[in-house]
Formats: sequence, structure tokens, C-alpha cells
Amino acid sequence: MKHLLSVDQLERGDLEEILEVTDAMVEVSNRAIPKAPALRGRTVVSLFYEDSTRTRLSFDSAAKRLSADTMSFAVSSSSVNKGESIRDTVETIEAMGMDAIVVRHRSSGVPAQIARWTDASVVNAGDGWHQHPTQALLDAYTIRSRFGSLDGRVVAIVGDIRHSRVARSNIEAFTRLGAKVVLVAPPTLLPATLAPWDVEVTEDLDSVLGHVDVCYLLRMQRERMNEALIPSLREYTARFGLDAARADRLGDGALIMHPGPMNRGVEIAGDVAERPNAVVTEQVANGVAVRMAVLFLVLGPGRHALPPTATAIASEPGPQGHDASVAGGRETDTHESEVGA
Ligand code: CP
Repeated sequence: MKHLLSVDQLERGDLEEILEVTDAMVEVSNRAIPKAPALRGRTVVSLFYEDSTRTRLSFDSAAKRLSADTMSFAVSSSSVNKGESIRDTVETIEAMGMDAIVVRHRSSGVPAQIARWTDASVVNAGDGWHQHPTQALLDAYTIRSRFGSLDGRVVAIVGDIRHSRVARSNIEAFTRLGAKVVLVAPPTLLPATLAPWDVEVTEDLDSVLGHVDVCYLLRMQRERMNEALIPSLREYTARFGLDAARADRLGDGALIMHPGPMNRGVEIAGDVAERPNAVVTEQVANGVAVRMAVLFLVLGPGRHALPPTATAIASEPGPQGHDASVAGGRETDTHESEVGA
């Protein structure tokens, strides 16, 4: 795997392999010194043209845990504001030396276009309404951690499917891993066609709550409100919000998930987000390990063969051949610089 651009490129076996490498990365992350030298000497650049808290920070943390050098691109203080094109920006950063570029952009297809311009590996961190593959991987990993597998599990994805890259990525990943997906949304918040997907659809959240293993809530995108796709946020919450009464109707062991950021009081009630079966922070924690696995697979020795265990990852020499095993208790040097200004 040179790039990770879309869940589309991953067969079931590929998804399972990434989740298995994530197991090893969780093990590395749980160590007293959560670091391994697998990507020592490699440079990972974050190129975020759109706001992010979870994805940007977790890719940064993932790269550092694998001893890569990191550069973060701050659009707000960069020459983008002087009219520099994406291509010129990418070529400028590449000239400084980079091995992987993690890209978020409001337009669908930008990461794929960048992959055509650069020799570096490109990881899609969210592009428009199109894809957010590492979100799907961390969500699949979270469900697998709780249930052992996604096979036969029923996942309701609730809310603004139409504008959601998370929904598109999750539908593909979950169904490929054997789950049954039910979309719960008003018709105005569904895509024009559902043809490529093997999903059920309903407008009646109350009718599915007792039958699902996961109730996955999407952020209600307030910025879409001026498109008049729903009468009002209040009405949306009344029909599709997970309040305490609805959460009580979920079956024993059913999970409540959300990719974040949450609109408490809109798609999820504040107290529901705090329940023990709401695993939003577990999703975030798993996001770091999943992104370690992805960076390892696109950049490290894992690009060619998968070391099966965390021990193997921790004892792999870095690309420069240094012996910097964390088992020896030595921390590797990781430097961060800012590109921009
Ligand atoms: N879930 C997600 O992509 O969150 P951020 O926008 O904070 O990265």
C-alpha cells in the first residue's frame, strides 16, 4: 500500500490486516514509553486545509510514536494566503524532504490529485463529502474491540448521510467486514442514489433502536441549515436525536458512537454522550493506533510485509538501519517544524 485514499481500495483482507497491525500498535501505545523506531528517518507532513482536532493531532501523535519526524502546515499562516496553489505548496514541501503527506481538504479528490503530483505516500485525512478512510478504520477497530468481529453486527448510521464522508467510508468498511448497515435519515439528508451500497434505509429511528449493536450518530452540519434540507434543528432533534429515552431502548451492550465533533443537544443529548456505552473517547484513542498502523503500512517495513506483533515492530531497525529499539529503553529523537509563514 503506497497511498491510502479511499476505503474503496481495500478488500476485506486488507481491512483485516490493518486492524491486526493496529492491535500491535495498541500494544506499543500501552507501553511505559509508547514509542517504536519503525519510521525513524522518515518525515510525515500534515497538510490540513480544513479545520481538525482529532485527525490532525492523532496523525501527529502516531508519527511521533513511530519515531518519524513531523512537519505541520498551518494554512492560516502560509503562502496559501498569498495565492499559492496546492501543487506549488506540495512541491515546495517535497523539496524540503518528505516521505508521507497527510491531507485534508474541503474538496473531494484533492488527496488523489496530490498523489499524482508527488512521489511521497499520500494519506487522505478527509476530502469534502467523499472519504475519511482512517475514521472508518478506527470505527471498525472500536466495534471489533468490543464484539470480536463485525460479522453479523447491525450498525445504524443516523443523520446527515448526504454530506458525510464519514458515512460513505463507514458504510463501505462496515459492510465489507460483514456488518449489516441501516441508514436512518430524512430523505433530504440521503445521497441522490444508494445504488452502490448494500444497506437498509428508514426514517424511523425508534423502530431500529432495539435491534442494533451500534447506534452511530453523525454530526448535524449546522452550516447546511441554509440549504433548508430540514425544517429546523429542533425538529431534527425531535425525530433523529438520541435523547435519554431513546438511549434507554438500545439493547444490552449496544454501543453509541460518534466521530466528533459532537453537537450536544442536537444529534446526541449531553448526558447520553457520558453513558458507559458511549465510546466516543475510545474511538479517539483507537484513532492514534490506527493511524500508526496506516503510516507503518505506507512507509515502513510493513509496506512490503507485515510484522505480526508489536515486538517485531519495536525491534525493527529504522529505515536508516539504526538500532533504536524501545525495548532498550532509549527514546528516539523526533523533531517537529512548522511549514508556513
Ligand atoms: N472525526 C474527525 O474527523 O474529527 P476532526 O474534524 O476533529 O479531525
